[in-house]
Amino acid sequence: MKEKILLVEDDINTLNGLAEILEDESFEITKAKNARQALAAMEKGTFEVVLMDYLLPDQDGLALSKMVLEKNQDIKIIMMTAFGTVKNAVDAMKMGIYDYLTKPINLDELLIILRRALQEHRLIRENQSLKSKLNNKYRFDNIIGVSGKMQQVFQKVAKVAQSDATVLIRGESGTGKELIARAIHYQSKQQGQSLVEINCASIPENLLESELFGHEKGAFTGAYKMKKGKFEVAHNGTLFLDEIGELPLSLQAKLLRVLQEKRFNRVGGVDNIEVNVRLIAATNADLEQKMTSGEFREDLYYRLNVIPIIIPPLRERLEDIGPLTDHFIDKYADKESRLLKGITDDARKTLLAYEWPGNVRELENAIENAVVMCEGDHIESEDLPGYLKGKKNTASSPLMDIVMDDNELGYKDKLEACEREIIRQALIENDNNKTRAAKNLGFTLRTLRNKVKKYNL
Ligand SMILES: Nc1ncnc2c1ncn2[C@@H]1O[C@H](COP(=O)(O)OP(=O)(O)OP(=O)(O)O)[C@@H](O)[C@H]1O
Ligand SMILES: [Mg+2]
Repeated sequence: MKEKILLVEDDINTLNGLAEILEDESFEITKAKNARQALAAMEKGTFEVVLMDYLLPDQDGLALSKMVLEKNQDIKIIMMTAFGTVKNAVDAMKMGIYDYLTKPINLDELLIILRRALQEHRLIRENQSLKSKLNNKYRFDNIIGVSGKMQQVFQKVAKVAQSDATVLIRGESGTGKELIARAIHYQSKQQGQSLVEINCASIPENLLESELFGHEKGAFTGAYKMKKGKFEVAHNGTLFLDEIGELPLSLQAKLLRVLQEKRFNRVGGVDNIEVNVRLIAATNADLEQKMTSGEFREDLYYRLNVIPIIIPPLRERLEDIGPLTDHFIDKYADKESRLLKGITDDARKTLLAYEWPGNVRELENAIENAVVMCEGDHIESEDLPGYLKGKKNTASSPLMDIVMDDNELGYKDKLEACEREIIRQALIENDNNKTRAAKNLGFTLRTLRNKVKKYNL
C-alpha cells in the first residue's frame, strides 16, 4: 500500500513539480493550493504526512498545522519555509511539527526527512495497535465471570489498578491468577511500561537470586557479563512474582529487604540500585500453613498482602461454568476451524455436576478436547472426557460430616452450612434453574433467591 502525503503549496509550479517527483518515488500525493483545500482533503482521506508551505494565501502554516494536528495528532507535518528564520522553526517545533525545510528545497534532504517521518509514523501506529491488542486481550470481556464472586473480583481489580499498592492474588491452581495479574497491569498507569513475570517455582534456587536481582560480571563461575535482574528490567512497570509460596527462605529475606528499602545490589555488586516497581504476587499455596511450619516468613507475608485478591474455585461459582464453556467453545472452534453451534443440555449438566479440581484450566482443556472429538454441530456428553462423569460435585460431599464434627461451630452455623450445601446441590441438579430448584426444595422462588444471595452461591 502506498504511503499517503498531503502536499499544500500555493505556488502552482512548485506544487505540480514536487507532486510529480514524489509520485515517482511511489508516494500517493493529494494536492491542495491553500489551507481550505487542505482541510477539505483531510475530511475525505487519511494521510501519514503533510508537507506544507509556511506562507499560504488564507492561513499561515502554523495556524493550519494546529488545525491539522487537532484532527489527527499522529500525523507528521513537514513545513517548507522560504524564510527559514530560527524564530519560525522554533515556533513550529514547539507546536509539534515534525521537521522543517528551507526553500529552495533540496530534494535529497526532503526525501530523507520524509522517509524518516513515515517510519516514525509507522512505529507509532504499530505500537498503538499492539497496545490496544494487549489491552483488549486482558480487558474484562475476555475474562469471563458472571457470578457475584467474580464480579467482586473484577471490581477489586479495577480499584487496585488505580493504585501502586502491592497485590497478593490467591486461589487454587487454574483459577485465573495469572490472567487477573495481567488485567491489573494493563488497566494500571503502568500499562505502557513493561510487565515482567517470574515464576519462583520453575527456577532453581541457585539461579533465582541472580534472575531477580541480576549479577555483576565475574560474580560467580559462568557470569561472563553483567546481567540485569527482573527487578531492574521492570523499573517503572510491574513485576509479577508468580508462585511466591515457593520462594526459598534465603530469598524471602532478600525480597523483604528490597520491599522495605526499595533498593538492592546485584549479585557480586556493591552499588545500591534503586527501582520503582509495582509488585503483584500470586500463589496457590496455603501460606498460613507455610508460616506455621516456618517455610514462609510472616513479615514478608504482611508486606505482600497489602491488597489480597482471592479467586474462588470454579466449584463455588457454578454460574460461571456455562459462560466459560461457551467462551472456550468459540475459542477452540475458531482455532480448529470448526463450525460448532454449541453444546447439548445433557453435556452442560455433566459439566455442572463435576467438581473441577483443576478449575478453569481443566474446563478449558476439557472443552478443547471435546471440540476436537465432536463430530456433529453440538458437543455432546459423549464428546467430553470420560473422567468428568466420575468425580461428582454432588451428594457424596463430605462437607456435612465435617460440619457436624466441628465443635467450634454452633448449631445455627451448622444448620446454615448444611442448608447452603443442600441448596447448592439442588442448583447443580437442576442445571442452575432456580424455578425448578425452588420447587424441589419447597421454597418460593423469592426465598431461594434470597438464600442464594445470602450464601453467595
Ligand atoms: N475467568 C476466566 N475467563 C477466561 N479464561 C480463564 C478464566 N480464568 C482462567 N482462565 C484460563 O484458564 C487457564 C488458567 O489460568 P491461569 O494460568 O491464569 O491460572 P492460575 O491461577 O495462574 O493457575 P496456576 O496456579 O496453575 O498457575 C488460562 O488458559 C486462562 O486463560
Ligand atoms: Mg499461574
